Amino acid sequence: MANKHEIVEKNIGWLAILSIIAISFGTLVEITPLMFMKDTTEPVDGLKPYTALEMEGRDVYIKEGCVGCHSQMIRPFRSETERYGHYSVAGESVWEHPFLWGSKRTGPDLARVGGRYSDDWHRVHLIDPRAVVPESIMPAYPWLEENVLDGKLTEKKIRVFKEQFGVPYTDEDVATASASVKGKTEMDALIAYLQTLGTAFK
Ligand code: HEC
Repeated sequence: MANKHEIVEKNIGWLAILSIIAISFGTLVEITPLMFMKDTTEPVDGLKPYTALEMEGRDVYIKEGCVGCHSQMIRPFRSETERYGHYSVAGESVWEHPFLWGSKRTGPDLARVGGRYSDDWHRVHLIDPRAVVPESIMPAYPWLEENVLDGKLTEKKIRVFKEQFGVPYTDEDVATASASVKGKTEMDALIAYLQTLGTAFK
């Protein structure tokens, strides 16, 4: 037995080939089932597609780079669940394109921030974080209150999510999307989006 193992360990060619096979097998066993498990491919009960305004808010979140400081992924560790709530599950993210799980936490995780604060709190915090959290190092975003949405691309965005990503929007959702955001500010949209985060999963 010992000799056979030596053949593999002393021959770089065999070692490389067999290592690749071992790793590929591990990958296959771990990842392939996830693609077929209901838990990971179907939305959790209570998940609703973003309204047109929330969808615009999500785009503001992307545009302003919030994801660079905030994750939206609570890991299943006690230190995280006690601070942020139940760990994130795959069924909450099935309609996220692209997902905003992030990888940097200069600020707190936001996966379940929906409903934690009032709309007014968010408004004040985004205009001047130091007004509500004196030690905050978060940048201020006062222009969100001034930038008004024209809704030009909103209908198209909802249509892409419906037709390309299979998110269950109705034809009416698509048709009314642009009109429903017109005149609202980026601030309104961003807050509407923040207030949904993590609220579908009970
Ligand atoms: C440079 C890093 C940074 C960026 C960029 C940033 N934040 Fe923050 N954020 C923080 C820090 C630090 C805190 C904790 C202090 C505080 O509450 O202000 C925080 C706190 C928050 C909170 C309160 C979370 C809680 O549970 O108390 C929310 C909501 C929030 N940020 C939203 C946003 C949004 C929306 C954006 C983009 C428009 C953004 N942040 C951009 C660093 C950042």
